[in-house]
Amino acid sequence: MSADRVDRRRLLLAGGICVAGAGFGTAWYVTTRPQPPAGNPLPVEVGDLAPGRLRTVEWKGRAVWILRRGADEIAGLAGYESELLDPASLHSLQPEACRNPHRSLRPELFVAVGQCTHQGCPPALRAGAGNRNEFLCPCHTSKFDLAGRVFRSGPAPANLVIPEYRLEGADRVVIGES
Ligand code: FES
Repeated sequence: MSADRVDRRRLLLAGGICVAGAGFGTAWYVTTRPQPPAGNPLPVEVGDLAPGRLRTVEWKGRAVWILRRGADEIAGLAGYESELLDPASLHSLQPEACRNPHRSLRPELFVAVGQCTHQGCPPALRAGAGNRNEFLCPCHTSKFDLAGRVFRSGPAPANLVIPEYRLEGADRVVIGES
Protein backbone atom coordinates (compact mmCIF):
# COMPACT_ATOMS: atom_id res chain seq x y z
CA MET A 1 0.00 0.00 0.00
CA SER A 2 1.37 3.47 -0.93
CA ALA A 3 2.31 5.99 1.76
CA ASP A 4 -0.43 8.29 0.39
CA ARG A 5 -3.11 5.63 0.88
CA VAL A 6 -1.87 4.84 4.39
CA ASP A 7 -1.97 8.55 5.32
CA ARG A 8 -5.47 8.87 3.86
CA ARG A 9 -6.67 5.87 5.88
CA ARG A 10 -5.13 7.35 9.04
CA LEU A 11 -6.89 10.66 8.37
CA LEU A 12 -10.24 8.96 7.81
CA LEU A 13 -9.81 6.92 10.99
CA ALA A 14 -8.89 10.02 13.01
CA GLY A 15 -11.91 11.88 11.61
CA GLY A 16 -14.19 8.98 12.51
CA ILE A 17 -12.86 8.90 16.06
CA CYS A 18 -13.47 12.67 16.41
CA VAL A 19 -17.05 12.38 15.16
CA ALA A 20 -17.70 9.40 17.45
CA GLY A 21 -16.14 11.31 20.34
CA ALA A 22 -18.42 14.29 19.79
CA GLY A 23 -21.46 12.02 19.72
CA PHE A 24 -20.30 10.25 22.85
CA GLY A 25 -19.79 13.61 24.58
CA THR A 26 -23.38 14.61 23.95
CA ALA A 27 -24.70 11.21 25.00
CA TRP A 28 -22.57 11.38 28.16
CA TYR A 29 -23.92 14.82 28.95
CA VAL A 30 -27.57 13.84 28.49
CA THR A 31 -27.27 10.65 30.52
CA THR A 32 -25.12 11.93 33.37
CA ARG A 33 -26.69 15.36 33.91
CA PRO A 34 -30.37 14.59 33.78
CA GLN A 35 -33.10 17.15 33.89
CA PRO A 36 -33.34 18.40 37.50
CA PRO A 37 -36.37 16.55 38.84
CA ALA A 38 -39.49 18.57 39.54
CA GLY A 39 -40.33 19.28 43.19
CA ASN A 40 -39.68 21.89 45.86
CA PRO A 41 -41.72 24.44 43.87
CA LEU A 42 -40.32 27.94 44.08
CA PRO A 43 -42.66 30.83 43.16
CA VAL A 44 -40.86 33.87 41.79
CA GLU A 45 -42.56 37.23 41.18
CA VAL A 46 -41.38 38.78 37.92
CA GLY A 47 -43.79 41.71 37.51
CA ASP A 48 -40.98 44.17 38.20
CA LEU A 49 -38.51 42.52 35.84
CA ALA A 50 -37.85 44.96 32.98
CA PRO A 51 -37.08 43.82 29.44
CA GLY A 52 -33.45 42.80 29.12
CA ARG A 53 -33.07 42.16 32.86
CA LEU A 54 -32.03 38.87 34.38
CA ARG A 55 -33.01 37.60 37.83
CA THR A 56 -31.14 34.72 39.47
CA VAL A 57 -32.75 32.58 42.17
CA GLU A 58 -31.57 29.46 43.93
CA TRP A 59 -33.62 26.29 43.48
CA LYS A 60 -32.43 22.93 44.78
CA GLY A 61 -28.91 24.28 45.17
CA ARG A 62 -28.75 25.47 41.56
CA ALA A 63 -28.79 28.96 40.13
CA VAL A 64 -31.87 29.41 37.97
CA TRP A 65 -32.20 32.41 35.69
CA ILE A 66 -35.32 34.25 34.68
CA LEU A 67 -34.71 36.66 31.81
CA ARG A 68 -37.38 38.97 30.45
CA ARG A 69 -36.66 39.23 26.75
CA GLY A 70 -37.70 42.35 24.88
CA ALA A 71 -39.48 42.28 21.54
CA ASP A 72 -36.20 42.90 19.68
CA GLU A 73 -34.49 40.08 21.55
CA ILE A 74 -37.31 37.66 20.71
CA ALA A 75 -37.23 38.68 17.05
CA GLY A 76 -33.44 38.31 17.10
CA LEU A 77 -33.56 34.61 17.96
CA ALA A 78 -33.56 33.61 14.29
CA GLY A 79 -31.28 33.81 11.30
CA TYR A 80 -28.08 32.23 12.63
CA GLU A 81 -29.17 28.63 13.17
CA SER A 82 -26.17 27.30 11.21
CA GLU A 83 -23.89 28.69 13.95
CA LEU A 84 -25.71 26.69 16.64
CA LEU A 85 -24.89 23.14 17.67
CA ASP A 86 -28.46 22.09 18.47
CA PRO A 87 -30.79 24.80 17.09
CA ALA A 88 -33.95 22.70 17.43
CA SER A 89 -32.96 21.42 20.91
CA LEU A 90 -33.14 17.79 19.82
CA HIS A 91 -30.18 16.75 22.00
CA SER A 92 -30.66 19.13 24.91
CA LEU A 93 -32.65 19.01 28.13
CA GLN A 94 -35.90 20.94 28.49
CA PRO A 95 -39.57 20.23 29.21
CA GLU A 96 -41.30 19.12 26.03
CA ALA A 97 -43.43 22.29 26.02
CA CYS A 98 -40.20 24.33 25.79
CA ARG A 99 -38.81 22.55 22.74
CA ASN A 100 -39.42 25.55 20.47
CA PRO A 101 -37.21 28.30 19.00
CA HIS A 102 -37.45 30.48 22.11
CA ARG A 103 -37.19 27.46 24.48
CA SER A 104 -39.84 28.77 26.84
CA LEU A 105 -43.52 28.61 27.72
CA ARG A 106 -43.97 32.29 26.86
CA PRO A 107 -41.58 34.06 24.46
CA GLU A 108 -40.82 37.00 26.75
CA LEU A 109 -39.85 34.90 29.79
CA PHE A 110 -36.80 32.67 29.52
CA VAL A 111 -36.10 30.31 32.43
CA ALA A 112 -32.90 28.22 32.54
CA VAL A 113 -30.39 26.62 34.87
CA GLY A 114 -27.49 29.08 34.92
CA GLN A 115 -24.73 26.51 34.50
CA CYS A 116 -22.63 25.95 31.41
CA THR A 117 -23.19 22.48 29.95
CA HIS A 118 -19.44 22.01 29.55
CA GLN A 119 -18.18 21.90 33.13
CA GLY A 120 -20.82 23.80 35.04
CA CYS A 121 -19.34 27.32 35.29
CA PRO A 122 -21.78 30.26 35.48
CA PRO A 123 -22.05 32.11 32.14
CA ALA A 124 -22.59 35.87 32.16
CA LEU A 125 -25.02 37.99 30.17
CA ARG A 126 -23.17 40.40 27.87
CA ALA A 127 -23.41 42.23 24.58
CA GLY A 128 -22.08 39.96 21.85
CA ALA A 129 -21.28 40.31 18.16
CA GLY A 130 -23.53 42.74 16.30
CA ASN A 131 -24.68 44.04 19.69
CA ARG A 132 -26.76 40.90 20.09
CA ASN A 133 -26.89 39.92 23.76
CA GLU A 134 -25.66 36.45 24.67
CA PHE A 135 -24.39 34.39 27.60
CA LEU A 136 -20.63 33.88 27.68
CA CYS A 137 -19.00 31.25 29.86
CA PRO A 138 -15.66 32.68 31.04
CA CYS A 139 -14.08 29.26 31.65
CA HIS A 140 -13.57 28.02 28.08
CA THR A 141 -15.56 30.66 26.11
CA SER A 142 -18.68 28.68 25.27
CA LYS A 143 -21.45 31.01 24.12
CA PHE A 144 -25.22 30.66 24.31
CA ASP A 145 -27.92 32.80 22.75
CA LEU A 146 -30.83 34.29 24.71
CA ALA A 147 -32.70 30.99 24.35
CA GLY A 148 -29.74 29.16 25.89
CA ARG A 149 -28.79 27.57 22.57
CA VAL A 150 -25.10 26.84 22.38
CA PHE A 151 -22.89 28.15 19.57
CA ARG A 152 -20.64 25.67 17.79
CA SER A 153 -17.56 27.77 18.54
CA GLY A 154 -17.07 26.55 22.12
CA PRO A 155 -16.72 23.19 23.86
CA ALA A 156 -20.14 23.03 25.57
CA PRO A 157 -21.98 20.01 24.10
CA ALA A 158 -25.60 21.01 24.63
CA ASN A 159 -27.96 23.92 25.15
CA LEU A 160 -28.53 25.25 28.66
CA VAL A 161 -30.87 23.08 30.71
CA ILE A 162 -34.45 24.30 31.14
CA PRO A 163 -36.05 23.13 34.41
CA GLU A 164 -39.69 22.23 34.86
CA TYR A 165 -41.71 25.37 35.55
CA ARG A 166 -45.16 26.81 35.07
CA LEU A 167 -46.59 30.29 34.79
CA GLU A 168 -49.19 31.72 37.16
CA GLY A 169 -50.87 34.70 35.58
CA ALA A 170 -48.71 37.32 33.92
CA ASP A 171 -46.18 37.93 36.66
CA ARG A 172 -45.33 34.75 38.50
CA VAL A 173 -43.08 31.83 37.56
CA VAL A 174 -43.24 28.65 39.64
CA ILE A 175 -40.00 26.74 39.22
CA GLY A 176 -40.12 22.99 39.87
CA GLU A 177 -43.73 22.38 38.81
CA SER A 178 -45.12 21.69 35.37
FE1 FES B 1 -18.25 26.70 30.28
FE2 FES B 1 -16.07 25.21 30.01
S1 FES B 1 -17.35 25.38 31.75
S2 FES B 1 -16.96 26.57 28.59
